[in-house]
Amino acid sequence: MSSPTPLISPSLLSADFARLGEEVRAIEAAGADWLHFDVMDGRFVPNITVGPLVLAAIRPLTALPLDVHLMIEPADPHLEAFRKAGADWITVHPESGPHLNRTLKRIRELGAKAGVAFDPSTPPEAVEWMMDEVDLLLVMSINPGFGGQSFMTSQLRKIERLRGMIEASGRDIVLEVDGGVTPETARLCLSAGATALVAGTAVFRGGPSAYAGNIAALRNAG
Ligand code: DX5
Ligand code: ZN
Repeated sequence: MSSPTPLISPSLLSADFARLGEEVRAIEAAGADWLHFDVMDGRFVPNITVGPLVLAAIRPLTALPLDVHLMIEPADPHLEAFRKAGADWITVHPESGPHLNRTLKRIRELGAKAGVAFDPSTPPEAVEWMMDEVDLLLVMSINPGFGGQSFMTSQLRKIERLRGMIEASGRDIVLEVDGGVTPETARLCLSAGATALVAGTAVFRGGPSAYAGNIAALRNAG
């Protein structure tokens, strides 16, 4: 049986930052469903990327939902700035602390959808008491911090477990996978129950003329 069609959220981390506006437009024209925006602080993860200023700069260029993945600690003092800059979905790591429930409530109060990201070592139970507060669960199939890493198949069982928890909750929660997603690994994620796929390398390889084909290959992987 084939899986339902997944949402494809290209990670701008793999875009050409000298031409970011053109890249955003090209990715939308190529059929992306969302845009994934990776924020890193050099503290929670060993890399530094971009912040609300860059998010605000791309917001007027696209109608796509902006899927903002915060790899920063603490996240709470910056939630409002990211929402004001145009974030539609804001996802945090429980380890960025200190109070996940408070953070998720704050994201929703600001009018965004709230997500929780799982490091490879974060157990599914991290959200067991939070299923009413989340709109999205993001399984990381790499250690956060860099694009271009290899998919960790150990995380497929976590996707299955979270799929079961979502079904039991009766709520409509997006189950997204991030890290090393290719058409081959996408197929495994979709059969494990994922409904959204983040991909940087696999979308941006080959340049703008390849984007539509790369996105279609992921969407049809199941
Ligand atoms: C890494 C980021 C990912 C990254 C994925 O911490 O969260 O979104 O861009 O890149 P690929 O698809 O190349 O693994
Ligand atoms: Zn990400």
